[in-house]
Amino acid sequence: MSLSHPEHPNLIVFDHPLIRHKLTWMRDEATSFRAFRALLEQIAGLMVYEVTRSFETVEVEVRTPMQRMRGWRVETPITVVPVLRAGLGMTGGILELMPEARVGHLGMARDEATLEPRAYLNKLPGDLDAGPVILVDPMLATGGSASAAMGMLREAGASDLRMICLVAAPEGVRRLAKDHPEVTVYTAGLDERLNEQGYILPGLGDAGDRLFGTT
Ligand code: PRP
Ligand code: URA
Repeated sequence: MSLSHPEHPNLIVFDHPLIRHKLTWMRDEATSFRAFRALLEQIAGLMVYEVTRSFETVEVEVRTPMQRMRGWRVETPITVVPVLRAGLGMTGGILELMPEARVGHLGMARDEATLEPRAYLNKLPGDLDAGPVILVDPMLATGGSASAAMGMLREAGASDLRMICLVAAPEGVRRLAKDHPEVTVYTAGLDERLNEQGYILPGLGDAGDRLFGTT
């Protein structure tokens, strides 16, 4: 379903046909924001299966209508942390699969001139160290926003961290591997490069604008 990337040991690139198919629709400039929104949620849901593969389970007893048996439950609290705004577009798809997960929010806006992220919201559960934390943002461009967000999660106590994104640029993957080498990034697409304005090529444009219809 997915491939570790030979040049980026911390990166998993999904190669599932459905994910590739849906991502290609999202890239198409003719795709409406309504369809874009639905596709983003669907891809996020499909990615969850692999992203949660290493989560610990505990053995529990369950009584079926027929008899008792041993089963498994994920008992540690899972925290999903979307980076506003665009990360919100993946959160619903993830929560479909993990309805019991808590949701923290980090608000980050990238300055268009300097490309530096500015944090404007930090609302996280108090016991982030109690279980896995998944940072969610569709676009990993320079990596500045993701690196700063990871720093905020670490500061808040998180220790088991991973990131889901939709499209990554090599520059962002390298930045995150340098700043947070312990973090695995899962992406639906690894693109070619950034342009002078810090946009991913070929990319899909501004994810937040296409998601919320603010283009
Ligand atoms: C986008 C995107 C990431 C960031 C990526 O958000 O959703 O958060 O840019 O860029 P970087 O890797 O170079 O930091 P943006 O700041 O445009 O805010 P928005 O989601 O509110 O549109
Ligand atoms: N943010 C986006 O939404 N798109 C890009 O290509 C880069 C940053």
